[in-house]
Amino acid sequence: MLNRVDIVDLVERYVRLKKAGANFVACCPFHNEKSPSFTVSPSKQFYHCFGCGAHGNAISFVMEYQGLGYVEAVKELADSVGMKLPEFERRGDQGAPKTDPEGPDLYEIMQKAEHFYREQLKGAPAAIAYLKGRGLTGVVAARFGIGYAPAGWQNLQTVFPDYAAKALRDCGLVIDGEGGRRYDRFRERIMFPILNQRGSVIGFGGRVLGDGEPKYLNSPETPLFEKGRELYGLSQARTAIREAGRVVVVEGYMDVVALAQHGIEYAVATLGTATSPTHVQKLFRQTDEIVFCFDGDVAGRRAAWHALDVSLPVLADHKTVRFLFLPAEDDPDSYVRAHGKHAFEQLLAEARPLSEFFLTELRSRVDMTTLEGRSRLIHEAKPLLKRIAAPALQLQLLKQVAQTSGITQEEAGRLTEIRGAAPARATHPAPVKGPDRAMLNRKLDRELLACLLAHPPLVREVPAEIVDVSHAEGRALGALMALDGIEELTHAVILERLRGSEHESVLERIGGDFLEKGMDADIAQAVFNGAITAIRTREPNPRIKELGEKDAKEGLTESEYEEFRRLIAEGDALKQRRTPPSTVL
Ligand code: CTP
Ligand code: MN
Repeated sequence: MLNRVDIVDLVERYVRLKKAGANFVACCPFHNEKSPSFTVSPSKQFYHCFGCGAHGNAISFVMEYQGLGYVEAVKELADSVGMKLPEFERRGDQGAPKTDPEGPDLYEIMQKAEHFYREQLKGAPAAIAYLKGRGLTGVVAARFGIGYAPAGWQNLQTVFPDYAAKALRDCGLVIDGEGGRRYDRFRERIMFPILNQRGSVIGFGGRVLGDGEPKYLNSPETPLFEKGRELYGLSQARTAIREAGRVVVVEGYMDVVALAQHGIEYAVATLGTATSPTHVQKLFRQTDEIVFCFDGDVAGRRAAWHALDVSLPVLADHKTVRFLFLPAEDDPDSYVRAHGKHAFEQLLAEARPLSEFFLTELRSRVDMTTLEGRSRLIHEAKPLLKRIAAPALQLQLLKQVAQTSGITQEEAGRLTEIRGAAPARATHPAPVKGPDRAMLNRKLDRELLACLLAHPPLVREVPAEIVDVSHAEGRALGALMALDGIEELTHAVILERLRGSEHESVLERIGGDFLEKGMDADIAQAVFNGAITAIRTREPNPRIKELGEKDAKEGLTESEYEEFRRLIAEGDALKQRRTPPSTVL
């Protein structure tokens, strides 16, 4: 199989590759980086990242990139080159049998149960009336294999004569009560079979006919069924998702079924659990656009925010996530029944892009009329922005966060430690030289001083070689560094120690500035790191520069790459050197 898949073709589907000599290079999809250290060798059919060490062949790439198991990855690859692997059909989602190969086939048991429930529905007028009352036709009921578990405690005995078998409990179909009495889990409920992607039954959701509690009863986690990975309706929706070019994620079984009833067949539901990264990954394997559809209430917004949060690391620039909030009184089921397919698709078309939801939600959490509020916005955005895997989206959001909080993109980039804020340089047209350069140096030193006043333990992190005593700020910086070692070094102690020296006035001015900005320790650390990086990158190690240029032009040899990687790592280590745990504070 591997000889049918070209690793360059494969990787290119996910990552933009650039030719470099005999190889291809890209920014590594497995860690965050700005200069490419990820190489793909067509001759060796192998990839290797000199930054994070990720390496392997086509199968490992698919496994790592899509978070799949070995067999699932092989299946995925086979699919992509139009090969069929019959031995994997009708197996678990992972492809590999999750059940004991010697024991009974749990999939078969589930299938038998599903068949039984479906048959039972035919003889249950009340259940049929309930489904009809909810607007469903027989065709759609059949599409989802909807059935009925009748009243009675041991109906499954008629399908499984060996009712005491351990496998029935392993499947979650029966419950062993106190005193060892075994009974059916599902009784007097409409049954919604849950299928895996291959179409095998792996669980059930059962709904009471009327107002009973609990409204839904679901299969427990079993060797076949892991709630956080599965999506209700995915197996039925696959073709429609491909055709529509999008998938809609809703919250309930009935939402999926009702949407299909109205001709929207590309909906799936999470199974009463929060959206997981696996869900998002799974869906992005099918399509480039996900629309999350939630209720417009507080719980819906919280669920949506969670979905946003887990989507960030799996986003790519050609993938879109959007959010649709329904009017408070509706869910997709009631909405589509009341207003029809066209109206629902209209809403879908107007669903809000992730970036918009991201910003309005963050803005609503802070008081945008104050400086503190705006710096809090950056503070809150920072960890989220850093997790975005899609560089263009990351940059776009960074820009908007900057705009919103009234700072430049460059500053926002430094505050959030997102190096990709590079286009900001375009706003500084001419290369910095002469007197401007000195000004920039002083500005950066002022930032460093502000950070040190805000968070004095940072003095230990100032690399001695960046201190430039040709200006007052640089000399003050040096003076502060000399105070390292003083226990309980605080802003007040610093001022006290330097009172009467030439540094006093510099520090007072800067201290006032930063008090106004209300920098907390985290932000101080971020600004500090940013400033140090900025100072260093203005005078990069010439060897790094040389290797970087060669890399871009003709590619590097293995040993050059090693050196390149080492030099960069050394720089990073310096940058990231943390304050040793202090007994102070
Ligand atoms: N759910 C669950 N257990 C419950 C309630 C809900 O597993 N006791 C899950 C089900 O997957 C359900 C989804 O959460 O479909 C959404 O629940 P809810 O909004 O309460 O129900 P609806 O889907 O609107 O159900 P219906 O329209 O049938 O009332
Ligand atoms: Mn509902």
